[in-house]
Amino acid sequence: MVIAVDGPTASGKGTIARGLAKHYGLAHLDTGLLYRAVGMQARMMGIDPDDPLAAVEATGFPDSLLKDPELRGENVGALASRVSVHKRVRAALLERQREFAARPGGAVLDGRDIGTVIAPDADVKLFVTASVEARAQRRHAEMVRRGQDVTLDAIREDLIARDARDRNRAEAPLVEAPDAVTLDNSNLNAAQSLAEAIRIVDDLL
Ligand code: C5P
Repeated sequence: MVIAVDGPTASGKGTIARGLAKHYGLAHLDTGLLYRAVGMQARMMGIDPDDPLAAVEATGFPDSLLKDPELRGENVGALASRVSVHKRVRAALLERQREFAARPGGAVLDGRDIGTVIAPDADVKLFVTASVEARAQRRHAEMVRRGQDVTLDAIREDLIARDARDRNRAEAPLVEAPDAVTLDNSNLNAAQSLAEAIRIVDDLL
């Protein structure tokens, strides 16, 4: 079984994908981490993330980078969103994601283009979304918890910019696959979102 989970930044898709993987005993790949690793590698190599030919050099990041805690930070997320617009960068990461999706035991992948590009034949496609306000508040609470000094306004602005970049890019934009089921969790907590996702998957199987 292959489950594709797509959605915008801070929609809770990662938490849902992890929960589904655990529930159904499937392997899980957070594909955002791959783009984050490219962004971080570009920074370490002094590469301009907006230069497509230079950015592709950063796709040769070492696997150890995927375990770096800094990868999850806001700055690296913004860099990831810049390197991920380039066709060559996306092409360089494609095979790795397809191979993961083809694992014999089945897999859950979460990202922006899983149901549309990486695994168009996935058994289940979920499009996880929530209002900008709900996502901004969750992200803000999480950062405050981590002791970071950021305002809700700054977070909201960054989310809107990231959404626009992910939705409007020419290559593999964030768009709901026609055969995806939408899960809007603006008014659900994490446990309720996962329960709803499991209900959707069970219904489709
Ligand atoms: O999901 P996450 O916030 O970790 O992703 C970071 C950035 O990587 C996103 O803003 C998006 O631009 C890019 N990304 C992508 N395709 C994916 C996963 C992430 O373009 N499948």
